[in-house]
Amino acid sequence: MDIHVLTLFPEVFPAVLDASILRIARASGHLRVHLHNLRDHAADRHRSVDDRPFGGGPGMVLKPEPVFRAVEAIEAELERPARRILLTPQGRRFCHALAAELAAEPALLLLCGHYEGFDERIRTGLAPAELSIGDYVLTGGELPALVVIDAIARLLDGVLGHEESAASESFSHGRLDHPHYTRPVEFRGMRVPEVLRTGDHERIAAWRLRQALEHTRVRRGDLLGKPESGNASPDPGPGLHVKETAP
Ligand SMILES: C[S@@+](CC[C@H](N)C(=O)[O-])C[C@H]1O[C@@H](n2cnc3c(N)ncnc32)[C@H](O)[C@@H]1O
Repeated sequence: MDIHVLTLFPEVFPAVLDASILRIARASGHLRVHLHNLRDHAADRHRSVDDRPFGGGPGMVLKPEPVFRAVEAIEAELERPARRILLTPQGRRFCHALAAELAAEPALLLLCGHYEGFDERIRTGLAPAELSIGDYVLTGGELPALVVIDAIARLLDGVLGHEESAASESFSHGRLDHPHYTRPVEFRGMRVPEVLRTGDHERIAAWRLRQALEHTRVRRGDLLGKPESGNASPDPGPGLHVKETAP
Protein backbone atom coordinates (compact mmCIF):
# COMPACT_ATOMS: atom_id res chain seq x y z
CA MET A 1 0.00 0.00 0.00
CA ASP A 2 1.15 3.53 -0.75
CA ILE A 3 0.43 6.32 1.72
CA HIS A 4 1.22 9.86 0.68
CA VAL A 5 1.34 12.51 3.39
CA LEU A 6 1.16 16.23 2.73
CA THR A 7 2.61 18.07 5.70
CA LEU A 8 4.44 21.20 6.79
CA PHE A 9 6.52 19.10 9.18
CA PRO A 10 7.89 15.99 7.44
CA GLU A 11 10.64 15.79 10.08
CA VAL A 12 8.05 14.54 12.60
CA PHE A 13 7.61 11.20 10.81
CA PRO A 14 10.91 9.25 10.55
CA ALA A 15 11.28 8.27 14.23
CA VAL A 16 7.92 6.51 14.21
CA LEU A 17 8.14 5.13 10.67
CA ASP A 18 11.62 3.72 11.36
CA ALA A 19 10.67 1.75 14.48
CA SER A 20 9.03 -1.60 15.23
CA ILE A 21 6.16 -2.88 13.06
CA LEU A 22 6.13 0.18 10.79
CA ARG A 23 9.81 -0.30 10.02
CA ILE A 24 9.18 -3.98 9.23
CA ALA A 25 6.11 -3.19 7.12
CA ARG A 26 8.14 -0.73 5.06
CA ALA A 27 11.25 -2.90 4.81
CA SER A 28 9.16 -5.83 3.56
CA GLY A 29 7.47 -3.66 0.93
CA HIS A 30 3.96 -4.01 2.36
CA LEU A 31 3.84 -0.28 3.09
CA ARG A 32 5.40 2.68 1.31
CA VAL A 33 5.08 6.11 2.92
CA HIS A 34 5.82 9.16 0.79
CA LEU A 35 6.29 12.47 2.60
CA HIS A 36 5.52 15.68 0.69
CA ASN A 37 6.37 19.09 2.11
CA LEU A 38 3.52 21.53 1.58
CA ARG A 39 6.02 24.40 1.52
CA ASP A 40 7.50 23.00 -1.70
CA HIS A 41 4.24 23.96 -3.38
CA ALA A 42 4.18 27.59 -2.26
CA ALA A 43 4.38 30.03 -5.14
CA ASP A 44 6.00 33.11 -3.59
CA ARG A 45 9.62 33.63 -2.64
CA HIS A 46 8.82 33.43 1.09
CA ARG A 47 7.27 30.00 0.49
CA SER A 48 4.21 31.08 2.44
CA VAL A 49 1.40 28.60 2.88
CA ASP A 50 -0.78 30.41 5.42
CA ASP A 51 -2.42 33.78 5.89
CA ARG A 52 -4.56 35.72 8.36
CA PRO A 53 -8.25 34.76 8.62
CA PHE A 54 -10.86 36.89 6.88
CA GLY A 55 -13.17 38.32 9.52
CA GLY A 56 -10.36 38.60 12.04
CA GLY A 57 -9.48 36.35 14.94
CA PRO A 58 -6.39 34.55 16.16
CA GLY A 59 -4.06 32.26 14.26
CA MET A 60 -3.29 31.59 10.64
CA VAL A 61 -5.20 29.61 8.04
CA LEU A 62 -3.70 27.28 5.42
CA LYS A 63 -4.15 28.86 2.00
CA PRO A 64 -5.97 26.97 -0.74
CA GLU A 65 -3.50 27.55 -3.61
CA PRO A 66 -0.48 25.58 -2.25
CA VAL A 67 -2.70 22.74 -1.03
CA PHE A 68 -4.52 22.39 -4.37
CA ARG A 69 -1.21 22.65 -6.24
CA ALA A 70 0.37 20.00 -4.01
CA VAL A 71 -2.55 17.58 -4.29
CA GLU A 72 -2.67 17.98 -8.06
CA ALA A 73 1.10 17.51 -8.40
CA ILE A 74 1.12 14.41 -6.16
CA GLU A 75 -1.88 12.88 -7.91
CA ALA A 76 -0.39 13.51 -11.36
CA GLU A 77 2.50 11.20 -10.41
CA LEU A 78 0.42 8.38 -8.93
CA GLU A 79 0.32 4.95 -10.49
CA ARG A 80 -2.87 4.12 -8.61
CA PRO A 81 -5.55 6.59 -7.47
CA ALA A 82 -5.24 7.56 -3.82
CA ARG A 83 -8.16 8.22 -1.52
CA ARG A 84 -7.93 11.78 -0.22
CA ILE A 85 -8.22 12.09 3.53
CA LEU A 86 -8.18 15.36 5.41
CA LEU A 87 -7.22 15.12 9.07
CA THR A 88 -9.44 17.33 11.18
CA PRO A 89 -11.01 17.21 14.64
CA GLN A 90 -14.31 17.80 12.82
CA GLY A 91 -14.10 14.57 10.82
CA ARG A 92 -15.49 11.11 11.32
CA ARG A 93 -13.98 9.47 14.38
CA PHE A 94 -11.27 6.98 13.42
CA CYS A 95 -11.89 3.41 14.59
CA HIS A 96 -10.95 -0.18 13.81
CA ALA A 97 -13.63 -0.57 11.13
CA LEU A 98 -12.37 2.53 9.31
CA ALA A 99 -8.77 1.34 9.59
CA ALA A 100 -9.81 -1.99 8.05
CA GLU A 101 -11.68 -0.23 5.27
CA LEU A 102 -8.73 2.05 4.47
CA ALA A 103 -6.29 -0.88 4.61
CA ALA A 104 -8.12 -2.32 1.58
CA GLU A 105 -7.33 0.79 -0.50
CA PRO A 106 -4.36 0.70 -2.88
CA ALA A 107 -3.25 4.21 -1.89
CA LEU A 108 -4.12 7.08 0.43
CA LEU A 109 -3.29 10.78 0.46
CA LEU A 110 -3.34 12.21 4.00
CA LEU A 111 -3.62 15.99 4.32
CA CYS A 112 -2.20 17.34 7.59
CA GLY A 113 -3.41 20.72 8.76
CA HIS A 114 -1.70 23.15 11.11
CA TYR A 115 -2.35 26.51 12.81
CA GLU A 116 -6.13 27.22 12.71
CA GLY A 117 -6.57 24.58 10.04
CA PHE A 118 -7.52 24.63 6.35
CA ASP A 119 -9.25 27.31 4.31
CA GLU A 120 -12.77 25.89 3.94
CA ARG A 121 -12.42 25.77 0.13
CA ILE A 122 -9.84 23.01 0.54
CA ARG A 123 -12.57 20.88 2.08
CA THR A 124 -15.29 21.81 -0.35
CA GLY A 125 -13.09 21.89 -3.46
CA LEU A 126 -11.02 18.75 -2.94
CA ALA A 127 -13.91 16.82 -1.33
CA PRO A 128 -11.71 14.59 0.82
CA ALA A 129 -13.00 12.16 3.39
CA GLU A 130 -12.53 13.79 6.80
CA LEU A 131 -11.03 11.90 9.72
CA SER A 132 -10.59 12.76 13.38
CA ILE A 133 -8.59 10.65 15.81
CA GLY A 134 -10.65 11.83 18.78
CA ASP A 135 -12.47 14.67 20.45
CA TYR A 136 -9.52 16.87 21.30
CA VAL A 137 -7.47 19.36 19.33
CA LEU A 138 -3.84 18.70 18.46
CA THR A 139 -1.34 21.18 17.07
CA GLY A 140 -1.18 19.57 13.66
CA GLY A 141 -2.25 16.61 11.55
CA GLU A 142 1.11 14.85 11.84
CA LEU A 143 0.32 12.77 14.94
CA PRO A 144 -3.14 11.88 13.60
CA ALA A 145 -1.53 10.83 10.30
CA LEU A 146 0.91 8.57 12.17
CA VAL A 147 -1.94 7.07 14.19
CA VAL A 148 -3.85 6.30 11.00
CA ILE A 149 -0.76 4.87 9.26
CA ASP A 150 0.11 2.64 12.24
CA ALA A 151 -3.43 1.30 12.66
CA ILE A 152 -3.66 0.54 8.94
CA ALA A 153 -0.20 -1.04 8.65
CA ARG A 154 -1.07 -3.62 11.32
CA LEU A 155 -4.01 -4.75 9.21
CA LEU A 156 -2.13 -5.20 5.93
CA ASP A 157 -1.84 -8.86 4.96
CA GLY A 158 1.52 -10.26 5.94
CA VAL A 159 2.64 -7.43 8.22
CA LEU A 160 1.91 -9.07 11.59
CA GLY A 161 3.16 -12.57 12.19
CA HIS A 162 0.97 -15.34 13.56
CA GLU A 163 1.82 -14.40 17.15
CA GLU A 164 0.60 -10.85 16.75
CA SER A 165 -2.23 -11.48 14.35
CA ALA A 166 -4.46 -8.42 14.24
CA ALA A 167 -7.53 -10.68 14.11
CA SER A 168 -7.21 -11.52 17.82
CA GLU A 169 -6.80 -7.94 19.03
CA SER A 170 -9.31 -5.56 20.55
CA PHE A 171 -12.13 -4.35 18.25
CA SER A 172 -11.50 -6.87 15.47
CA HIS A 173 -14.54 -8.91 16.57
CA GLY A 174 -16.43 -6.05 18.15
CA ARG A 175 -15.00 -6.85 21.57
CA LEU A 176 -11.85 -6.19 23.59
CA ASP A 177 -8.88 -8.56 23.73
CA HIS A 178 -8.57 -11.20 26.48
CA PRO A 179 -5.98 -10.76 29.27
CA HIS A 180 -2.41 -11.89 28.60
CA TYR A 181 0.11 -13.45 31.00
CA THR A 182 3.76 -14.46 30.79
CA ARG A 183 6.39 -15.78 33.25
CA PRO A 184 6.72 -15.84 36.23
CA VAL A 185 3.78 -18.04 37.23
CA GLU A 186 3.51 -16.10 40.48
CA PHE A 187 4.38 -12.44 40.99
CA ARG A 188 3.82 -10.64 44.29
CA GLY A 189 1.10 -13.09 45.22
CA MET A 190 -0.68 -12.84 41.86
CA ARG A 191 -0.87 -16.16 40.00
CA VAL A 192 -1.35 -16.90 36.34
CA PRO A 193 -4.79 -18.55 35.91
CA GLU A 194 -4.27 -22.34 36.02
CA VAL A 195 -6.24 -22.98 32.84
CA LEU A 196 -3.55 -21.23 30.77
CA ARG A 197 -0.99 -23.82 31.91
CA THR A 198 -3.06 -26.91 31.16
CA GLY A 199 -2.13 -27.14 27.48
CA ASP A 200 -5.83 -27.80 26.77
CA HIS A 201 -6.37 -25.52 23.75
CA GLU A 202 -10.17 -25.79 23.77
CA ARG A 203 -10.47 -24.85 27.44
CA ILE A 204 -7.96 -22.02 26.95
CA ALA A 205 -9.89 -20.66 23.96
CA ALA A 206 -13.17 -20.82 25.90
CA TRP A 207 -11.60 -19.09 28.92
CA ARG A 208 -10.14 -16.36 26.74
CA LEU A 209 -13.46 -15.75 25.02
CA ARG A 210 -15.28 -15.51 28.36
CA GLN A 211 -12.65 -13.10 29.69
CA ALA A 212 -12.74 -10.98 26.54
CA LEU A 213 -16.53 -10.70 26.74
CA GLU A 214 -16.39 -9.85 30.44
CA HIS A 215 -13.71 -7.19 29.90
CA THR A 216 -15.83 -5.74 27.11
CA ARG A 217 -19.02 -5.77 29.19
CA VAL A 218 -17.30 -4.01 32.10
CA ARG A 219 -15.20 -1.50 30.16
CA ARG A 220 -16.93 -1.00 26.84
CA GLY A 221 -20.49 -2.26 27.05
CA ASP A 222 -21.27 -0.08 24.03
CA LEU A 223 -19.35 -2.53 21.82
CA LEU A 224 -21.62 -5.46 22.63
CA GLY A 225 -24.64 -5.81 20.45
CA LYS A 226 -24.17 -2.41 18.87
CA PRO A 227 -22.43 -1.14 15.75
CA GLU A 228 -18.75 -0.44 16.33
CA SER A 229 -18.41 2.58 18.59
CA GLY A 230 -17.11 5.94 17.42
CA ASN A 231 -19.30 6.10 14.36
CA ALA A 232 -21.87 8.55 15.53
CA SER A 233 -20.29 11.67 14.06
CA PRO A 234 -21.94 13.54 11.19
CA ASP A 235 -21.27 13.33 7.46
CA PRO A 236 -17.71 11.98 7.07
CA GLY A 237 -17.29 13.18 3.50
CA PRO A 238 -17.60 11.09 0.37
CA GLY A 239 -16.94 7.40 0.50
CA LEU A 240 -16.24 6.74 4.17
CA HIS A 241 -18.63 4.07 5.37
CA VAL A 242 -18.41 1.94 8.44
CA LYS A 243 -19.37 -1.66 8.17
CA GLU A 244 -21.04 -3.01 11.26
CA THR A 245 -19.11 -5.80 12.91
CA ALA A 246 -20.90 -8.59 14.69
CA PRO A 247 -20.16 -8.79 18.42
C1 LIG B 1 -5.02 23.31 15.87
S1 LIG B 1 -5.79 22.21 14.74
C2 LIG B 1 -7.08 23.20 14.06
C3 LIG B 1 -8.37 23.00 14.79
C4 LIG B 1 -9.55 23.75 14.17
N1 LIG B 1 -9.41 25.18 14.31
C5 LIG B 1 -10.82 23.30 14.88
O1 LIG B 1 -11.06 23.76 16.00
O2 LIG B 1 -11.53 22.43 14.34
C6 LIG B 1 -4.62 22.12 13.43
C7 LIG B 1 -4.66 20.84 12.63
O3 LIG B 1 -4.36 19.73 13.46
C8 LIG B 1 -5.00 18.57 12.97
N2 LIG B 1 -5.79 18.01 14.07
C9 LIG B 1 -5.91 18.53 15.31
N3 LIG B 1 -6.66 17.75 16.09
C10 LIG B 1 -7.01 16.68 15.35
C11 LIG B 1 -7.79 15.52 15.60
N4 LIG B 1 -8.38 15.31 16.77
N5 LIG B 1 -7.94 14.63 14.59
C12 LIG B 1 -7.37 14.84 13.38
N6 LIG B 1 -6.63 15.92 13.09
C13 LIG B 1 -6.45 16.85 14.05
C14 LIG B 1 -5.85 18.99 11.78
O4 LIG B 1 -5.15 18.66 10.59
C15 LIG B 1 -5.98 20.49 11.97
O5 LIG B 1 -6.15 21.18 10.76
